[in-house]
Amino acid sequence: MPTTLVVKIACRDAERGRRALADAGVLRKDAIPQRTPEFVFFPVTKKIPLDVAHSFSRKRLANRVSAQPFKTTLAEFLSKRELDAAVTSFDLVGGIAVIQVPARLEKKKKRIAQALLRANNRIETVLRKTGGRTGAFRVQRVEWLAGAKAFSATHKENGCVFRVDLRRAYYSPRLSTERQRIASLVKPNERVLVPFAGVGPFAIPIAKRNNAVEVVAIELNPAAAKLLRENVVLNRVSDRVRVVEGDALKIMGSREFASWADRIVMPLPHSAKSFLPSALHALRRGGVIHFYRIVEKRSGAHGGERELEREAREACAAAGRRFVKLGWRRVIKYSPALAEFVLDFKAF
Ligand SMILES: C[S@@+](CC[C@H](N)C(=O)[O-])C[C@H]1O[C@@H](n2cnc3c(N)ncnc32)[C@H](O)[C@@H]1O
Repeated sequence: MPTTLVVKIACRDAERGRRALADAGVLRKDAIPQRTPEFVFFPVTKKIPLDVAHSFSRKRLANRVSAQPFKTTLAEFLSKRELDAAVTSFDLVGGIAVIQVPARLEKKKKRIAQALLRANNRIETVLRKTGGRTGAFRVQRVEWLAGAKAFSATHKENGCVFRVDLRRAYYSPRLSTERQRIASLVKPNERVLVPFAGVGPFAIPIAKRNNAVEVVAIELNPAAAKLLRENVVLNRVSDRVRVVEGDALKIMGSREFASWADRIVMPLPHSAKSFLPSALHALRRGGVIHFYRIVEKRSGAHGGERELEREAREACAAAGRRFVKLGWRRVIKYSPALAEFVLDFKAF
C-alpha cells in the first residue's frame, strides 16, 4: 500500500483543522483519516499553512473503496431479510459512528462496520452498542468494530467543543436540540444548577451564550467530571461554570445551595423524580425546573406528560411550594413504547 501525505493535528484541534483543510479543498476523501488517543492524521493533497499546531509526514492509510450509500454497500453482502433487519441509522460523535447490529447479523458485524466506514468520509471509527446504558453513570457499553481503535473523540455541538469518552462517561448527540432550547431560555444574571452535568453539553452552552450567568455543574462520575472540567477550559467559560464533583442529592440539599438557583436542569430521566425534594430546596421561590423523565410514549389524557406533571405537583405539595406548569415536550423516542419527556415548571 503506498504512503499518503498526512497532516498530524492534536485531537482537540482536529475538527477546526479538518474544516480548514476541507475549506481549502486539500482534504482527500479517498483515504480514511487515522486517529490515535492524541492525534488525528488527515490525508491531504498538498501542504498548506494552518492556524492550529500541525506537522506533515507520510503514512499508510486505508482507502475508501467507494463512496456509495451505506445501504447500497450492505446490499452487496446481505440477503433481503438481513437487509431488512439491519439498522442503517447511527450516532456520530466526532469521527466515531456508534451503530446497532442485531444479534442475527453478529457474524457480519465487521463487514457492516467496514461498509459504513467506506460510505461516509467523516467517520474514522465504528463502534457497536453491546448493551443498554447501565448503572448510575449511564455509560454506554460498546465494542470496537472498524477504523481507528478509539473510544474518545472531540465533538462539536451548539457552537461548543466537547471531549467525550464513550466507554467512561455518558454522552449522546441525540439531545442537542433540547440542549439548545434550554440555553436559549436562560436570561442574563441567572444562577443555573445542572445536577447531572455529564461532560457539560447543557452547562457549557448556557455559559457560552451568556457571559453574565453563574452555572454550577454537578457530576458524580469522576471520569465525566474530569472531562467536564477539561471542556469548561476548552470552551473558555471557567469564569462562569463551577464544577462540583459528587452526589447531586447531597449537594443540592446542602445549606450552601438553599434557594440558590433561578433555574435547575435535571437531565437524569430514569430517576430524576427522587431528586426533586433536594432540587426544590435549591430553587428560589418562582424559579424554574426542567424535569426529564422516561415515560409512556403516548401523550393525551393518560399520556407520559401527565405522569411528569403528577410527580412534580406531588413534590411541590410535599415541599409546601405552589406548582405552575410552563409546558412540556417529547424530547426523544426511547423505545417502541417509551419516550423521554421534559416538563418545564415554576415552583413558588
Ligand atoms: C443521562 S446522563 C446526562 C449527562 C448530560 N447532562 C448530558 O446530557 O450528556 C446523567 C449524568 O448524571 C450523572 N449522575 C448520576 N447520578 C448522579 C448523582 N447522584 N449526582 C450527580 N450526578 C449524577 C451520571 O454520571 C451521568 O453523567
